[in-house]
Amino acid sequence: MEDFSSGNILLRLRFLHPVVAAIAAVYVLWLILKSLKRPERLWNHEVMLAGVLIGQIGLGILNVLLLAPVWLQMVHLLIAELLWVLVVLASANLLFATVDCNSAGQNCAAASCSLSYRGMNSCLSCHLSTL
Ligand code: HEM
Repeated sequence: MEDFSSGNILLRLRFLHPVVAAIAAVYVLWLILKSLKRPERLWNHEVMLAGVLIGQIGLGILNVLLLAPVWLQMVHLLIAELLWVLVVLASANLLFATVDCNSAGQNCAAASCSLSYRGMNSCLSCHLSTL
């Protein structure tokens, strides 16, 4: 097998990709757990997100083991796009969900709640404080 350890800077930085992927996976897991706690949780989204995350990490490991054949690169890239779409949707869901700020012990009429989104009881600053 070819030794890339002393080659191009990009090749030497290859080890960073799985490390960054692992850090990103921690965020995705946090997102899933937070979403599961919400009353209007969307099981399908969370199950899909968890499945795609685990699958993508598996594909990444397979990529290394099989020395990245082109078909596997394509699949790994495709699943990365799908994961990205799901993460954006889940983050938006969590951030802009309708929250009953009053029941969360917040007063929506307070000056701190200046930005309001969908729904009477929804306001970003209240919601952020409940995250
Ligand atoms: C959340 C998890 C991950 C995401 C979102 C992700 C995403 C990506 C993306 C976007 C590429 C570039 C694809 C291309 O340009 O064709 C790539 C390449 C690669 N990834 Fe990952 N990756 C993840 C996890 C992993 C893990 C855990 C490993 C290995 C332990 C890995 C190994 C590789 C390898 C070897 C390549 C180069 C070959 C290729 O282009 O497919 N990945 N990854």
